[in-house]
Amino acid sequence: MLISLSIILTKAQKGRYAVGAFNINNLETLQAVMSAAESERSPIILQTSEGAIEYAGMEELAALVHLAARKTKLPVVFHLDHGKNFNLVITAIKSGFYTSVMFDGSSLPYKENVQKTKTIVRLAHAKKISVEAELGLIAGKEDFISVSEREAAMTQPSQAVDFIKQTGCDALAVAIGTRHGAFKMKKESNLDFERLKDIAEAISVPLVLHGASGVPARIKAQCTKYGCEIASAKGIPDSQIKKAITLGICKVNIDTDMRIAFDAGIRKFLKEKPGVIDPREILKPAKDLMTAVACHKMRLFGCSGKA
Ligand code: G3H
Ligand code: 13P
Ligand code: ZN
Repeated sequence: MLISLSIILTKAQKGRYAVGAFNINNLETLQAVMSAAESERSPIILQTSEGAIEYAGMEELAALVHLAARKTKLPVVFHLDHGKNFNLVITAIKSGFYTSVMFDGSSLPYKENVQKTKTIVRLAHAKKISVEAELGLIAGKEDFISVSEREAAMTQPSQAVDFIKQTGCDALAVAIGTRHGAFKMKKESNLDFERLKDIAEAISVPLVLHGASGVPARIKAQCTKYGCEIASAKGIPDSQIKKAITLGICKVNIDTDMRIAFDAGIRKFLKEKPGVIDPREILKPAKDLMTAVACHKMRLFGCSGKA
């Protein structure tokens, strides 16, 4: 059953848990997330980035998600992740596929972010579609930024109050020190929990944590054992994700951990079974590992049993 982001995040906020939002690019990842959600009885957010749309097609991904949503009794949100291209977000709204979109104006000057988010909210709400916006800049895959740049990029609580008042968005992605990708930090993870607490006290919309993958040691070890060069990869420890949820995070975005699981599954299988050429056999361990990762996340986020 397809449902709006607002509904499941309002429930999560009241229940003090978070819902996992998983990036999907292909059938196997979608199947893994759905199978985890079924066994955990968890609500689920399936999200497609601009890159996923470029890779697989909006219509194609939408067909997969809509079919999966029709076949389950679980609440499923279909979300556009990091819509930076204003026109693509409008296309996504008009398509009727998505129950939620993210307009990511975080790299724009503040006034322009407000203006564009406001327009997206007006168009989306007219079609009962929820809007996630971003304030502060969550670093990208390769951007190792200095301490002062990191500080300047973080979400300011007082600006968040003004942003919500002006835009009317339904959820806000906050920058508190997480980063996208597998290489999040050189030393230990150091999230700004004081800032998160201040933001959560200042505004009432549900908060979103991007760049939240943990790079699980066992799966990373399997990747590196079979040749993947991610020895220096480091993620956010589970304990810090848990703490962020107690402080008001209601949606946690995961992509990297599913990519690592996919990679680990494929590499091990190909090394151990060099005679197999059937893609269904090759992809099965990858799918199983992604399912296990998604189940772990649902328990960690507290959304297991909340469907
Ligand atoms: O936050 C971004 C997600 O990890 C999506 O990555 O743009 O490579 O699909 P992508
Ligand atoms: P990770 O790269 O930490 O998985 O973050 C994914 C994300 O934020 C997608 O929007
Ligand atoms: Zn993100």
